[in-house]
Amino acid sequence: MAGSHADNGINADTYEPIEKVSVDELRSLQLERLQDSLKRAYDNVPHYTGAFDQAGVHPKDVTSLEDLASFPFLTKEHLRQNYPFGMFAVPRSEVVRIHASSGTTGKPTVVGYTANDVEMWATVMARSMYAAGARPGDIAHVAYGYGLFTGGLGAHYGAEKLGCTVVPVSGGQTEKQVQLIVDFEPRVILVTPSYCLNLIDEMERQGIDPATTSLEIGIFGAEPWTDEMRAEIEARLGIEAIDIYGLSEVVGPGVAQECVETKDGPTIWEDHFYPEIIDPDTGQVLPEGSEGELVFTSLTKEAFPVIRYRTRDRTQLLPGTARPMRRMAKVTGRTDDMLIIRGVNVFPSQIEVQVLATEGLSPHYQLTVDSEGSMKTLAVAAERAPETSESDAVALAGELQNKIKGNVGISTTVQVMEPEALPRSMGKAVRVIDRSAQ
Ligand code: DLL
Repeated sequence: MAGSHADNGINADTYEPIEKVSVDELRSLQLERLQDSLKRAYDNVPHYTGAFDQAGVHPKDVTSLEDLASFPFLTKEHLRQNYPFGMFAVPRSEVVRIHASSGTTGKPTVVGYTANDVEMWATVMARSMYAAGARPGDIAHVAYGYGLFTGGLGAHYGAEKLGCTVVPVSGGQTEKQVQLIVDFEPRVILVTPSYCLNLIDEMERQGIDPATTSLEIGIFGAEPWTDEMRAEIEARLGIEAIDIYGLSEVVGPGVAQECVETKDGPTIWEDHFYPEIIDPDTGQVLPEGSEGELVFTSLTKEAFPVIRYRTRDRTQLLPGTARPMRRMAKVTGRTDDMLIIRGVNVFPSQIEVQVLATEGLSPHYQLTVDSEGSMKTLAVAAERAPETSESDAVALAGELQNKIKGNVGISTTVQVMEPEALPRSMGKAVRVIDRSAQ
């Protein structure tokens, strides 16, 4: 136990003892919790009652974790159909918090939490921060957006629970954020990787060397980012950049967290969230190690149990390393963000890798999809780095175009713009503008 923190349940290497439980013990805990969660959903949410009955499955028939595969999936469409509170498994008066994810079209997806759910969420978030290297007493600068988005408040409750001094800055007011970082000297920052780049640029604009700030740990998520982006941020800001994964429907940030000692993909907190990987086309469960769509079943949530929720995130399940619980590989992208350019499947993250591999470019980029007859075309906009001269722009564009052709396999048009020409992210970056459907 870490001395004076014993009261928080913090021990030397993990925030909670359960993080080190054996796989056998974990599986039996999961089965017990799964049975409860299925029952809670079936007994209290008309959608689940109807869907399970229609599929001819019943919670009482579940005797192994594998039996989950016979249950129907839950999709975002189902959540929309039950807007706003139709998926709640408790009376509305027991729901102490609502969040919602905006989505690009139609009505938002609404999620609810009981007091116990908020407590569980704060705990997995505190556990996540601990795994990233944060400790009680640290100052934590939270630049995820506060509000209906789960990022700000999720990080906030977790950081308080861990025992940090929280600076609840939210997103935006970039100049002021830099001033607060300089003045308050936080050790930890929680922010999207794209907004972090914006903060780093602002530090440089103000004549501050980003590597000299007090920051040591960055907990980055809410959008896909590559290991190349990690290297860029770590080098410029002089920190450990650690991946955090989550989604509103499952709880918010803190579903899975990369451990600082291994930095090999987020560990899924499997005592609360049960993962499966499926073939997105057939819905079949795939063996461990295959790439496919991540599906989650909540094991302990009260207000908003999710059974086999299709995240649309593409990744793989990997064996545990720093913890016995399984890891997920870095998310390549969402199935709905996948571009099909002349028959080739492309994720924006594959372009990101090439942008970051091109010396002389800044790490900012944006993609525009257009149509030419029945074909889709991709235009890549990048920026030259401030120290690169304007006369190099054309050559850099050619270099990036060749790299994308050679490594991703698609032809693109590339434009290298002036420094700061591209819009900057305040939260989740908009990587793709799709004009092909217009
Ligand atoms: O983005 C929750 C969150 C906040 C996670 C802060 C981490 C940090 P949503 O707005 O519902 O919730 O969006 C969830 O964001 O399905 C992924 O597509 C994407 N996403 C989240 N974390 C990561 C990550 C929050 N580490 C959607 N890597 C998810 C890649 C991520 N994609």
